[in-house]
Amino acid sequence: MAGASGGALAAQTSAAGAFGFVGAGYMTPSRIQDELSLARAQLLLSDEDPLPIGVGYLAWQLEKDPPSGVDLLDVSLSNRVQAIWLAFGNSIGRWIEYIRSYDARSGRERGRKTLIFVQVSSVKEALIAIQDWKVDVLVAQGSESGGHGYSATLPLLTLVPSILAVLPRDGPPLLAAGGLSTGGHVAALLVLGVSGVVLGTRFLVTEESCYNEVQKKVLVMASGNDTVRTTAFDRARGTLDWPEGVDGRAIYNKTVADVDGGVDIKTVRENFNKATQDRDPDRMLVWAGTGVDLVTEIQTAQDVVREIVADMMKHLSFVSTLIAT
Ligand SMILES: Cc1cc2nc3c(=O)[nH]c(=O)nc-3n(C[C@H](O)[C@H](O)[C@H](O)COP(=O)(O)O)c2cc1C
Repeated sequence: MAGASGGALAAQTSAAGAFGFVGAGYMTPSRIQDELSLARAQLLLSDEDPLPIGVGYLAWQLEKDPPSGVDLLDVSLSNRVQAIWLAFGNSIGRWIEYIRSYDARSGRERGRKTLIFVQVSSVKEALIAIQDWKVDVLVAQGSESGGHGYSATLPLLTLVPSILAVLPRDGPPLLAAGGLSTGGHVAALLVLGVSGVVLGTRFLVTEESCYNEVQKKVLVMASGNDTVRTTAFDRARGTLDWPEGVDGRAIYNKTVADVDGGVDIKTVRENFNKATQDRDPDRMLVWAGTGVDLVTEIQTAQDVVREIVADMMKHLSFVSTLIAT
């Protein structure tokens, strides 16, 4: 999660038995290195140890200036992170090729490679990721998701079975993302046939997340009806290089109302920048998925993982009683 998951959140999530990602979007190479060093320290690993976390890149940022894109990727690869996540670009295949050639060049230990996760939002994209790119892990992102996504995406309960229907038997594991906050959600998706799930918004409301206290409070107080898919915040902050068709789900506030109401962009930007500086919840940016409704307190990342696993087991046990009866 760009702007939200740093080394501490990724490390603590992995330490609890899940798998954490640093969101490297908008970071410089030295900032990525700092976050990876922090994760390494928290996991008590030496510089020589592989790093059991992943790093997520916004592919359009790599594409903007390819030599700089290579520098950004090289920080993670030289730190031997376990996985790289790519999404939102027009030439993702090129970066996958680069990562695989880096692995081959650096003679990574036999049997180890950088796992490539790609997030998709349609069957068409899924088929490209499976057949052309041979990704190691496929993530299906439904329209309920917090943060950026494709505006035309289907809800998760339709997208997942549609992708499962074309997934070959020897295809990559499929993970589901979007609006998932509880162990019950996780159990439901596992029953539907995915190999795992991705939770974003739930982890924004952790002690380790880079979101500030005001943003976390907004999320704790928000209901699912408060979220909206919009391009208003990208217009307000001037991040307009996203691929065609991408918007993002965030908490609705006056910035969205102003953009939708036709307020001139200069005024929108001034108000937005001031609100960001003052931490004013009425206009600042708080990305959130629909599952924010069920997020009611700030916890540690480890507690979130443990709670979700216990809740998931309870629901899966219930499912097995349905079969028995
Ligand atoms: C604050 C925030 C930042 C995100 N940044 C990225 C990103 O950099 N790259 C990406 O592929 N997805 C990003 N996402 C989307 C997540 O990968 C995931 O699809 C989403 O969080 C799942 O939905 P949920 O938030 O409802 O759990 C982000 C989501 C949030 C909430």
